[in-house]
Amino acid sequence: MAKSEGTTMGMRLKLLLPFTIMIVVLSSTKAASEVAVSLPGCPNKCGNITIPYPFGTIKGCYLSKEYRVNCTTLRVANTSFFNLLDISLIDGYMRGLLPMGFHCYNKAHKIASKLEPKIRLSRFQVSTTQNLVTAVGCDARTSIKTVTGEGYIAGCLAMTGCDRLTNGSCLGMGCSQVPIPYNLSSFRIHSQSNTEAQNVGNWSHNNCTYGFVVEKGNYTFLTTDLDNLQNRTFPVVLEWSIGHTSCEEAQKNMSSYACKKNSVCLDTMTEPNRSYQGYRCECAQGYQGNPYLPNGCQDIDECQGGQHGCIYVCSNTNGSYNCSCPLGQHGDGRKGKGWNGCSYNFQAVGNSVYWGVSMGTAASLVLTFIIYWGLKQRQIMKSREIFFKKNGGLILQKVLFESKKSSHIAKIFAARDLENATNKFHKTNIVGQGGYGTVYKGTLTDKTTVAIKKAKSIDESQIEQFINEVIILSEVSHPNVVKLLGCCLETQTPLLVYEFVPNKTIFHHLHEQDYISSMTFERRLNIATQTAEALAHIHSTTQIVHRDIKTLNILLTDDYTAKVSDFGISRFIPVDETHLQTLVHGTLGYIDPEYFRSGILTEKSDVYSFGMVLVELLTGRKVFSHDRTESDLGLAMYFTSSLERGHLLQILDDKVKKDGVNEHIRYFARLAKDCVELEGKKRPNMVEVKEELRELQQSYLKSSIMSKKIKFVELDDLLLFD
Ligand SMILES: *[C@@H]1O[C@H](CO)[C@@H](O)[C@H](O)[C@H]1NC(C)=O
Ligand SMILES: *[C@@H]1O[C@H](CO)[C@@H](O)[C@H](O)[C@H]1NC(C)=O
Ligand SMILES: *[C@@H]1O[C@H](CO)[C@@H](O)[C@H](O)[C@H]1NC(C)=O
Ligand SMILES: *[C@@H]1O[C@H](CO)[C@@H](O)[C@H](O)[C@H]1NC(C)=O
Ligand SMILES: *[C@@H]1O[C@H](CO)[C@@H](O)[C@H](O)[C@H]1NC(C)=O
Ligand SMILES: *[C@@H]1O[C@H](CO)[C@@H](O)[C@H](O)[C@H]1NC(C)=O
Ligand SMILES: *[C@@H]1O[C@H](CO)[C@@H](O)[C@H](O)[C@H]1NC(C)=O
Ligand SMILES: *[C@@H]1O[C@H](CO)[C@@H](O)[C@H](O)[C@H]1NC(C)=O
Ligand SMILES: *[C@@H]1O[C@H](CO)[C@@H](O)[C@H](O)[C@H]1NC(C)=O
Ligand SMILES: *[C@@H]1O[C@H](CO)[C@@H](O)[C@H](O)[C@H]1NC(C)=O
Ligand SMILES: *[C@@H]1O[C@H](CO)[C@@H](O)[C@H](O)[C@H]1NC(C)=O
Ligand SMILES: *[C@@H]1O[C@H](CO)[C@@H](O)[C@H](O)[C@H]1NC(C)=O
Repeated sequence: MAKSEGTTMGMRLKLLLPFTIMIVVLSSTKAASEVAVSLPGCPNKCGNITIPYPFGTIKGCYLSKEYRVNCTTLRVANTSFFNLLDISLIDGYMRGLLPMGFHCYNKAHKIASKLEPKIRLSRFQVSTTQNLVTAVGCDARTSIKTVTGEGYIAGCLAMTGCDRLTNGSCLGMGCSQVPIPYNLSSFRIHSQSNTEAQNVGNWSHNNCTYGFVVEKGNYTFLTTDLDNLQNRTFPVVLEWSIGHTSCEEAQKNMSSYACKKNSVCLDTMTEPNRSYQGYRCECAQGYQGNPYLPNGCQDIDECQGGQHGCIYVCSNTNGSYNCSCPLGQHGDGRKGKGWNGCSYNFQAVGNSVYWGVSMGTAASLVLTFIIYWGLKQRQIMKSREIFFKKNGGLILQKVLFESKKSSHIAKIFAARDLENATNKFHKTNIVGQGGYGTVYKGTLTDKTTVAIKKAKSIDESQIEQFINEVIILSEVSHPNVVKLLGCCLETQTPLLVYEFVPNKTIFHHLHEQDYISSMTFERRLNIATQTAEALAHIHSTTQIVHRDIKTLNILLTDDYTAKVSDFGISRFIPVDETHLQTLVHGTLGYIDPEYFRSGILTEKSDVYSFGMVLVELLTGRKVFSHDRTESDLGLAMYFTSSLERGHLLQILDDKVKKDGVNEHIRYFARLAKDCVELEGKKRPNMVEVKEELRELQQSYLKSSIMSKKIKFVELDDLLLFD
């Protein structure tokens, strides 16, 4: 089934309405109706017996006369004595009842009555593997003979006399069984006494011998059968097939080839490795139905069954299905041993909104985690060293040791110290919960207040992110970057220790009523400038792209100094390369559309995200909003088009407007617009942005006319805004 509009809608909804997350199963709307077994308009049953095509009951409903079933007599084609019980499409078997052969003797050792049925099975064979030739009686001999002549095909003897019979035992005393020969299709069943019943002691008993073919396991010998078995019928398993050639041969004439769409052909052998009886068809993997019908086999909608193993999105394909992760997450999307086929890229500190996403999408995973954690907790004391190694401690030690650039070496904390600092990670100490971690406030023994980030899971990709963050932050030292004090790798999940930044994030100050009043334009300008400085520093000195710049990741101190945090998904760009192809990470709304499309990461991707932060600072609007009709680019598009239509005033935050729409605000808006250009090439780089903002800041302070040196805006262009 084709992926429908619902796919993107579903994922979009998940992101926009984080509290209404549900498992999205994409599948066909077609009801899981009964799969057709016979040709359209043909009866598919004889009483209780399902008759699948190529078999059929009336003219036009069977492939050829060889597969005609007479519903009254339950005979197939011109078989004789065979009474149909059922037909199996899947393995090419067909069950039915066959009569027995017997001889009964009188006192004079002469035959009193007998039955010696001539069985013809048309083109079908008695399955060698599923049936047994059976002889029952005292000194009984059963022979399978050719129908016409006296040719002997197979047989068996129940040799011993009738004095030591055991119920359930068919090993030669009163009862014996042997396998069926290959290619048995037409035969007589002949049963007789070897000794003309000479050994029979009591003439009113045990004076018959019986021979029959029976499905393995269906007949259990009873001593009482010696008198009572006469005229019984027994189930046998026949093999059926199509044509008289191998698959290869049959495929040469497609107009007579019986295997239709989405099926595979199997050779049926009369005798292993010797001769072909014909061929049969099976549905290819991922398909079901009747491979002989003109439509062939139908796709199985795996997504319907609940057996698909996708965590979030299951989309059916022809013959298979795909799991995928919601936008902004990556992984194979399957439940697996890691129970985390999608990992989260929302790495917000103190972000209740996105915590909602994690809780909603991963409620069961979190439960799993809790159980896992509980078990893990018991082992922890014993295995700190193991954790240290598993958590990348050795890699980290090595990297930190080798890194000469490292401006401050991260300290390795003891687990006990951090437990004490956070009152054993008590929940009252939680200051934030993000996509992959919980952040606790803690006080070290030297009275330093720290933020301790603890991973929710021990998923390996996240361990990598932790280590990545440690390595990167130890490369970076800047007043506007959150300082990493060290880490602890002895616990089941690694812990990162940061300087404590007490005043929440820009996001809180922009969007939560309690904080909004504090955000004057000047403050916004300062925050933007500081953030730009941090990013410019990171880009120019370390070749690191942050990849997840957003207002939730910019923390504020009490005096409103901005500190960029969350380097979990940052990546180094090798010095000799200007871009890097990676899995797309980031947060919807802030993510560079060019990077999103191409997967090519450049430092201009951070410029775009930073541009969105500027837009958010100016407009006070969230990048996602329920009351704004979303275009693909959301706030970015809305902002740019408002600007182009001269509606700057309408979209400005009230708090910003209050100071009057001056040249500084227009300039700020223009800079934001430059940063969110769709083409990365057209965006300024972070160093240029930083310079612009610095000049703007100074100019604002002096409240003087803007400097003419400004590169990104011609004063004429300002006309655009009104
Ligand atoms: C599945 O097969 C049908 C018919 O062959 C085709 O129309 C359809 O596009 C296929 N769907 C996919 C997802 O390949
Ligand atoms: C069909 O099967 C049911 C139960 O399996 C049985 O009671 C009924 O007699 C059967 N009908 C026919 C026509 O064989
Ligand atoms: C019916 O049996 C005859 C011989 O007994 C055979 O030649 C013929 O092919 C058979 N027909 C079918 C449809 O099996
Ligand atoms: C089924 O067999 C009976 C008895 O041999 C016969 O009368 C009847 O016509 C057959 N039905 C069909 C559909 O061939
Ligand atoms: C066995 O022999 C006795 C005596 O001749 C006869 O009455 C009886 O019918 C025979 N049993 C069978 C099953 O034919
Ligand atoms: C075998 O089983 C039948 C029926 O359950 C019983 O009547 C008979 O006595 C048993 N024979 C022996 C030798 O146990
Ligand atoms: C199988 O038996 C048929 C007759 O029933 C015969 O024509 C054919 O040659 C046999 N095939 C093999 C491989 O023995
Ligand atoms: C034969 O069997 C009958 C019935 O069980 C019994 O009455 C009779 O004595 C037996 N005869 C001999 C010779 O064992
Ligand atoms: C033997 O086969 C018959 C007919 O299909 C079935 O009703 C019966 O349950 C089978 N018995 C055993 C022991 O498998
Ligand atoms: C077995 O079948 C034959 C022939 O159809 C019949 O004469 C005989 O009475 C039957 N025997 C029993 C025990 O039903
Ligand atoms: C292919 O099969 C069709 C239908 O059975 C038949 O009419 C035709 O002669 C066959 N062609 C060849 C080349 O065997
Ligand atoms: C049939 O051939 C295959 C290899 O061609 C061999 O592995 C297998 O044992 C053979 N089977 C028999 C029953 O000869």
